[in-house]
Amino acid sequence: MPYAKIIGSGGYLPPRVVTNDELAAELATRNIETSDTWIVERTGIRQRHIADPGATTSQLATRAAQAALADAGIDAGELDLIIVATSTPDFVFPSTACLVQANLGAKGGAAFDVQAVCSGFVYALATADAFVRAGRAKTALVIGAEVFSSILDWSDRSTCVLFGDGAGAVVLKASEEPGIMAAQLNADGSQMKILCAAGNVAHGKVVGDPFLRMDGQAVFKLAVTSLTQSALDVCKEADVSLEAIDWLVPHQANVRIINFLGRRLNIPDEKVVVTVDHHANTSAASVPLAFDEARRDGRIKPGQTVLMQGVGGGFTWGSVLTRV
Ligand code: UT7
Repeated sequence: MPYAKIIGSGGYLPPRVVTNDELAAELATRNIETSDTWIVERTGIRQRHIADPGATTSQLATRAAQAALADAGIDAGELDLIIVATSTPDFVFPSTACLVQANLGAKGGAAFDVQAVCSGFVYALATADAFVRAGRAKTALVIGAEVFSSILDWSDRSTCVLFGDGAGAVVLKASEEPGIMAAQLNADGSQMKILCAAGNVAHGKVVGDPFLRMDGQAVFKLAVTSLTQSALDVCKEADVSLEAIDWLVPHQANVRIINFLGRRLNIPDEKVVVTVDHHANTSAASVPLAFDEARRDGRIKPGQTVLMQGVGGGFTWGSVLTRV
């Protein structure tokens, strides 16, 4: 059975950077009080990229995909599978993956979206891995992309300071050597209310609440416990010790969650990729953006073992353990 091996990665961030001070000044004009000090102390976030009005997830995803294809040296025509993880799709349908396929000039392969919020990229990567291992795909493009700014309630300071926009992508190819060694996905739908955007479009109207709502403390606690267990489970499945992990690339929601996780797993800070300070939480895009940044700046090297982890609304969580 072939492995699925990451042979290229790419990322795209919208050019507009909004610092905490800029955001605090903008919110102050509407009598909403926040500060750089509060945001940095509670989250580690210093800035976020925000897409221009009208910019779509498929546009960001296409830019990240083009960078990943160029990095892999693969022509879009070779792709037989495209999966986009997003909670902010351009349309109800068709899927964002189909829009990206058209933008890339590819045709004929499978293309679909995965919806697992901030765990979306890990879910999509595990799905693509299963396709490749089963012989149903040979060259796959996996993207996490979001315009999360479009579902934020900008009058709710407990959520609007936390998120940003962006896209990250990887190209997978069937290979005789590892490759993705193990993957592990979980969900607990009974926790849906702690993080949701419980709205819909029906009969020509928005039905329900179109904005993201979150019980931050409940999410924080569940994130730390679920990611710790998931890391142990995926390492056990692959028969790889935690000490053998060269890089932990966790979902980038809050540096305090990342630090707790590192301590619980006894993984030193030097082995943990952190981008939340300059990207904020880009939901499904956070893991591939962090992976791509660390790969391009030479921290993640060929042959190393990388643990990627996602956690978020659903409630969902999961891990992918891979050799790069
Ligand atoms: O992608 C996965 C989803 N997201 C996450 O993983 C997020 C998980 N949760 C968190 O990161 C943290 O819970 C938050 C960063 C959201 C909040 O941090 P916290 O330490 O749990 O703060 P808190 O919610 O307990 O709020 C503390 C205080 C409150 O004031 P009082 O009640 O103590 O007077 C809030 O009203 O901070 C206040 N507050 C703010 N103050 C200034 C909440 N948001 C802000 C703000 N600026 N932006």
